[in-house]
Amino acid sequence: MLMLADPGVLNGYLDSEHDTWSALVERHHLDVATHACSTYMDGLSRLLPCATAPVPLEALNSTLARLTSWRLVSSAGMVDDTFLFRATAEHQFPVASKVRSPEELAFAALPDMFHDVYGHVPYLLTPRGALAHRMFGEVARAGGYAPTLVQQLSTLFWFTFEVGLVREAGMVKVLGAAILTSAEERRNVGRGDGDIMPFDLDAVLETPFQPRSLQPRYFLLSKFSEIFVALKRLAPRRPR
Ligand SMILES: [Fe+2]
Repeated sequence: MLMLADPGVLNGYLDSEHDTWSALVERHHLDVATHACSTYMDGLSRLLPCATAPVPLEALNSTLARLTSWRLVSSAGMVDDTFLFRATAEHQFPVASKVRSPEELAFAALPDMFHDVYGHVPYLLTPRGALAHRMFGEVARAGGYAPTLVQQLSTLFWFTFEVGLVREAGMVKVLGAAILTSAEERRNVGRGDGDIMPFDLDAVLETPFQPRSLQPRYFLLSKFSEIFVALKRLAPRRPR
């Protein structure tokens, strides 16, 4: 879809925002090939032809409809956890419409469209990534969106799909969107500036986190499927 409006605006985004997006995508290609986990790379290969430039969500949804039943819904950036899980239970994922500023190429404190589209959407284009996201929502819904359960799911989501690491073929690979879309967060991991702990649900749930800064602690999954095991542990027991 091509919508020409004012000079310097294409598809609703300024030339400068297209430039920022191009710079982010170029850097991303170089970095993720060596760092990202296989599930992410699988989804990214499907996303790439659809996300070469920032476009309105409806246009992106039209393109993605060929690949997935998921729909992207508009968000202002940081979303409420209950809103997130209500969305994922319905095969929807919130995506920010704003593109970060040129000064935030290496690290943006708040989620922007690049973070959401390049960090999260690839998982929605793979069977097990989509299933995991849906399960977050279904577990929350099964528990009536009780605040304690939502907080536990939010913490698990943070330490997996935002700043999670996973071991693959003996190597530490990046799972989390906040690391995948931030060169500075990747350097933080690579330099060993944050502790890397073996994934353990009890330890995860006891670990506080600060979404707007580089992380002091990461958790390393032994395999992707540990997320499903953790989600099943958090799922409310059905009455007999
Ligand atoms: Fe995110």
